[in-house]
Amino acid sequence: MKFKQLLLAGFLVSTILSAEAADIYSPGGELKLNVDVNAAGQPVYSLIYKGKELVSPSRLGIQADETKFSDGFRIEQVDTVTVDRSWEPVWGEYSTVRDHFREMAVKFVAEDPAREMTVRFRLFDDGLGFRYELPVQKGPNYLTVKDELTEFNFTGNHKLYCIPGDYDTDEYLWSETTFTDLPQALSSYKRHSEAQRTGGTTIQTPMLIKTADGVYVNMHEAALDGYPAMLLDVEPDKFSMKSHLVPDRLGVSAYLQLPFATPWRTLIVSDDARDILASQLVLNLNEPSKIEDTSWIKPMKFMGVWWEMFTGNQKTWAYSDDALAKPGITDYSKLKPNGRHPANTENVKKYIDFASANGIDGVLVEGWNEGWEDWASYRKNRQFLFDKPYPDFDLPYLRDYAKEKGVKLIMHHETAANASDYEKQLDRAFQFMKDNNYDAVKTGYVGAIIPRSEHHTSQWMVDHARHVIERAAEYKIMVDSHEAPRPTGLCRTYPNWLAQESARGGEFESMGGNPPSHTCILPFTRLKGGPMDYTPGLFETRMSYYGEGKDSQAGTTLARQLALYLTMPSPMQMVCDLPENYERFYDAFQFIKDVPVDWADSRYLEAEPNRYITVARRDKNSDDWFVGAITDENARTAEIDLSFLPKNEKFIATIYEDAPDADWKENPQAYRIRNVDVKSGMKLKQKLAPGGGAAIRITKKK
Ligand code: NOJ
Ligand code: CA
Repeated sequence: MKFKQLLLAGFLVSTILSAEAADIYSPGGELKLNVDVNAAGQPVYSLIYKGKELVSPSRLGIQADETKFSDGFRIEQVDTVTVDRSWEPVWGEYSTVRDHFREMAVKFVAEDPAREMTVRFRLFDDGLGFRYELPVQKGPNYLTVKDELTEFNFTGNHKLYCIPGDYDTDEYLWSETTFTDLPQALSSYKRHSEAQRTGGTTIQTPMLIKTADGVYVNMHEAALDGYPAMLLDVEPDKFSMKSHLVPDRLGVSAYLQLPFATPWRTLIVSDDARDILASQLVLNLNEPSKIEDTSWIKPMKFMGVWWEMFTGNQKTWAYSDDALAKPGITDYSKLKPNGRHPANTENVKKYIDFASANGIDGVLVEGWNEGWEDWASYRKNRQFLFDKPYPDFDLPYLRDYAKEKGVKLIMHHETAANASDYEKQLDRAFQFMKDNNYDAVKTGYVGAIIPRSEHHTSQWMVDHARHVIERAAEYKIMVDSHEAPRPTGLCRTYPNWLAQESARGGEFESMGGNPPSHTCILPFTRLKGGPMDYTPGLFETRMSYYGEGKDSQAGTTLARQLALYLTMPSPMQMVCDLPENYERFYDAFQFIKDVPVDWADSRYLEAEPNRYITVARRDKNSDDWFVGAITDENARTAEIDLSFLPKNEKFIATIYEDAPDADWKENPQAYRIRNVDVKSGMKLKQKLAPGGGAAIRITKKK
């Protein structure tokens, strides 16, 4: 990533010593932050939006076994500065991102025992970020952290859009509830096997709040590094939340050596829902790219020998059904193939041919390597080998064939959550990739983590994820991680981290389905941390249920799947369905061929969480605009204001839309394609079916 200080205006620096309290306004003046210490010397902050209290005085602090950074404090020094600069992401929704904020660093000092802590606040026009900075102390410098005291005290019984607190998984459907109804909403969730759900009223971030006044607040964290992920303990009757750091199974959240700076706690704030979607606050709070030469990082679309494992009559990642009965097997050629293994040479060739003929950049192959016989049996060995192809996967042949066809094979590393073993094999695995012409990998951590004292989002796994991404960068490898700690904008610092799953993805369409509202909430929540490998492009919306033979119905129309390429932006975007399903609807597939995955500009035109999203984006590599609109299970007419188009020019819009009688449940595959002459200033009224959507390509008229 090129980090450009295009502008460093208004560099107003000031220092105040021994303050009673301190406050700052956001650059535009709509947000105001107060910082104070109460009578017990406890640091507190509050946040005012458009003159009204949004967060009432809320405590700050960290508690370690060795010492407490929570009371007995006075404010010793307050430093403020205004920063206005821009940077150019390697990929993303915008070609330039403005980073404009007022910063206030408040130094808290306590005597007896002597302690020192700075809280750095950055107040943007679209929200607040703050983090704790613990410098080298006179007292203990190695800390065992069990609790962080950060509070978020809200002022009313707001609406909450959230999923249960969980140390291991975020693959849940979303609740739309209120503070006081939260206990009931959370009690309806089933516990995932092998995952550690917190009890009671704990939720996870990113989450969204909507107040009765129509103020939206996205709560999350930025730059999660060297520290556990944060959940939120909610006190429903007090309308308040408190940070809950994910502990390891021994009960410790973080082992720190000072100096240390925590991740940023973030609140994106606006009374216009579209601003929440457009906000780049989380990325702005991350460090610039640590990768200097980013020319090898290439956004892409990819297909996969993947979906047929979810929908196709008991197809398996494993090559043989024998191996479980023969633990410790080393010679796979002696095993009897099960005949249901799609990662075979012939089938992979079919995908390469289709990708090549249709300009799809990559083909992911899952189930290519040894170890799957044991993978989901959590209590067993769970050892994959990342340089051992199965006997029916002819890697040298496929490597050369893919190259000849101009397609990149994408590696798959399912670790079955044996993260420590993966670390041991990492260099060998990445070298093996490079030797075989792979430069992207999808990783996976299904099951309970090994080492067994860790959780998916505990400090050790956060460190593991950073280690993998750094190592991958050294080998010039791009990463799409599944079941990893949820993203917090680190893809700015490591732009080879193209995508993550870290939410309930499209795969659940074959496990009972994702309701249409699901993709109307993810952009307000999960996507604020970074792009998601949601796996859009599902054309066959009825399928056999994963592993169970019964039917599953996807919560979508076919046209909506096209719109998801716009509403769920990702630089590593899957084209998830089987080639034969694309051949059946080949005219609609044209949109997937045409749609870019990297953008020069984005305009959110309409948005309401859980209900609808309409967005327009300009291709980074051409003058084409693309529009995507989706709705929940209710039909809707999107109003697409085309004023983003350059004036005095003529355009053609190719509209892929739900047919008049389309409906996600009854008639999901009914769509129409039509061409319309358009120009700037026009407003298109675009009908969306229940659970439907529309996707539009707008090109200059020749
Ligand atoms: C879960 C991932 O989300 C999915 O995409 C993958 O196919 C399976 N694990 C197997 O690795
Ligand atoms: Ca998953």
